[in-house]
Amino acid sequence: MSGPILAARGLTKSFGPRRDARRVVDDVSFSVGPGAILGIVGESGSGKSTTLRCVVGLERADAGEVLFDGVPLAGADREMRRSFRRDVQMVFQDPYSSLNPRMTVETIVGEGLDIHRAAASKQGRRDRVVEVLELVGLDATILERFPRSFSGGQRQRIAIARALAVGPRVLVCDEPVSALDVSVQAQVVNLLLDMQQQLGLAVVFVAHDLALVRHLCHEVMVMQHGVVVEDGACADVFDRPRHDYTKSLLAAIPIPDPERDRARRAAAAVDRRSA
Ligand SMILES: Nc1ncnc2c1ncn2[C@@H]1O[C@H](COP(=O)(O)OP(=O)(O)OP(=O)(O)O)[C@@H](O)[C@H]1O
Ligand SMILES: [Mg+2]
Repeated sequence: MSGPILAARGLTKSFGPRRDARRVVDDVSFSVGPGAILGIVGESGSGKSTTLRCVVGLERADAGEVLFDGVPLAGADREMRRSFRRDVQMVFQDPYSSLNPRMTVETIVGEGLDIHRAAASKQGRRDRVVEVLELVGLDATILERFPRSFSGGQRQRIAIARALAVGPRVLVCDEPVSALDVSVQAQVVNLLLDMQQQLGLAVVFVAHDLALVRHLCHEVMVMQHGVVVEDGACADVFDRPRHDYTKSLLAAIPIPDPERDRARRAAAAVDRRSA
């Protein structure tokens, strides 16, 4: 399969009363192929989360369509919709609210296996839960514990294990590290990257941290007021932003660029020598 796994075409979503509706996602299109990472950036309120929520079906778009393996979901049969729900999994920003505090780790991580009837037996289910916990750096000793006894970073690992349990092909991550302590952000990012590479996942990754997006993503899409103002290969957009909004985003956050720094230092040295 070489085409995109997941694509959106012309997604549009408004909120508010009909007379006074505010369009927060306006004609948004993107696609992501197997093994690719698409970053979505833009200021707070630009419609990033709403876009993702429309894609995974947590929100109903007013217009536009979502394509899975090139097939529009709207016209897809039950089987296709079922595999979409299994193959496209989401990781949310806040692991404090995304994990049910009354469920044990085993129930949380295993829930998807039940929903999708992906485990043949109770033991098979437990084995799979342990397997994905180990994949994310946790182990079987925590099966009976509840979310409250874990740190933010551990909770996000559990949330990632839950997403991976059913063997998805796409991971949709809405600022998966923004709520975490800076000291564990890198660990969770590395874990996601590791999983992406090991499992060949396609990833859609919303983030505020442009340096992180540049480091992580192959493609990037820049949103402002619900509209995609610019998109393309990450290196192109970051090195040669065309839109003023992208330029201002980039200017606001210094992005370390060792190569450019080296070039700048070399040029400065030449200047000094010739002076
Ligand atoms: N259920 C809702 N009802 C009404 N308005 C909403 C709803 N969900 C989102 N909005 C509004 O839509 C706009 C876009 O919100 P969204 O959460 O998609 O932005 P975002 O880009 O994810 O922002 P952030 O970076 O802060 O997460 C915001 O103005 C928000 O207040
Ligand atoms: Mg958001």
